[in-house]
Amino acid sequence: MSGRAIVATVVLTLALVAAGLALLGTANPVSAGRTVVLSEAVEAPAAHGHHLPPTKGSGLYQFEHPGRRQFDAGQVFNPVPPPPTPAPDGVREFTLVIEEDGVLEVAPGVKVPVWTFNGTVPGPILRATEGDRVRVTLVNKGRLPHTIHFHGIHPANMDGVFELVAPGGSYTYEFIAAPYGIMPYHCHSMPTSQHMHNGLYGMMIIDPKEGRKPMKELAMIMSAFDLDRDGEADFYAWNARAFQYADHPIELEQGEPVRMYVANVFEEVMAPHLHGNMFHLYPTGTTLQPTEYTDVKTLGIAERAILEFQYDFPGYYMFQCHVSEHMEQGLMGWLHVKERQHVAAQKRR
Ligand code: CU
Ligand code: CU
Repeated sequence: MSGRAIVATVVLTLALVAAGLALLGTANPVSAGRTVVLSEAVEAPAAHGHHLPPTKGSGLYQFEHPGRRQFDAGQVFNPVPPPPTPAPDGVREFTLVIEEDGVLEVAPGVKVPVWTFNGTVPGPILRATEGDRVRVTLVNKGRLPHTIHFHGIHPANMDGVFELVAPGGSYTYEFIAAPYGIMPYHCHSMPTSQHMHNGLYGMMIIDPKEGRKPMKELAMIMSAFDLDRDGEADFYAWNARAFQYADHPIELEQGEPVRMYVANVFEEVMAPHLHGNMFHLYPTGTTLQPTEYTDVKTLGIAERAILEFQYDFPGYYMFQCHVSEHMEQGLMGWLHVKERQHVAAQKRR
């Protein structure tokens, strides 16, 4: 090392030590026993000593016990899909009306304009059985051309990419439901990112011919909203309303078998995760046997999966996206497992 290099190293070291001392002087370590409110932490990172402040959005929710109501999520999207029923004459008919003048409360008190299928975001949960003739009529009541693109196997002209449906027009998609599994549907009109982002997405469940074991069912779409269009989502949600199932926990019974259909329709990786439990995983819903027994599954863009589980102990359990920022910005909720009736009765005796 040359003399000049040694001098430079010494100067740099002294500068770093001085900076470190200055930081220690201004730092205000959190005293033991004091509860730090997260929103306060976001505003005053100095209060956290040498720790970095939490990520953006993490002041929104502080994991209060669900009994203590923190906010009003407003209207709740019913997570229970329609039951599997036989199609009359093997034909399953749906009408999906697109409108562009919806208003959605994406988070408590945050209302944004949305485009809707039948007035809701996500669109209605459609259900068919493998082999059914599915007929979906799109009615475009908007001011722009729209389409419906279904995932699954079908002819090219039923793919909803070229067949732009003009404002005031309609188009009927017809195909044989295949394969069984979770098949998202969404508008594919250009720019697709805008049409999807504005709310034009939903889920179709195709049941295997032999059916699945009957159990309590839930359908959950993971998506997000970038309100200021800066390329970063501001709210993430189960079924398009941040924290709605935190405000309105989903009631389950102890020991009750549950099947959750999950789809990621946003353009980021998501990681659905259950607390206090494990689930049997059926990727894309295209198998009858589970491929994995786990408590978290990373879903890539447009990926989906069936999760089957049951809770052995009563209480409140979080179900969340394990991407912490997504959870903190709305992708979490509570499963309220109630004590099974006869168990409760035995205890009282
Ligand atoms: Cu569209
Ligand atoms: Cu798609």
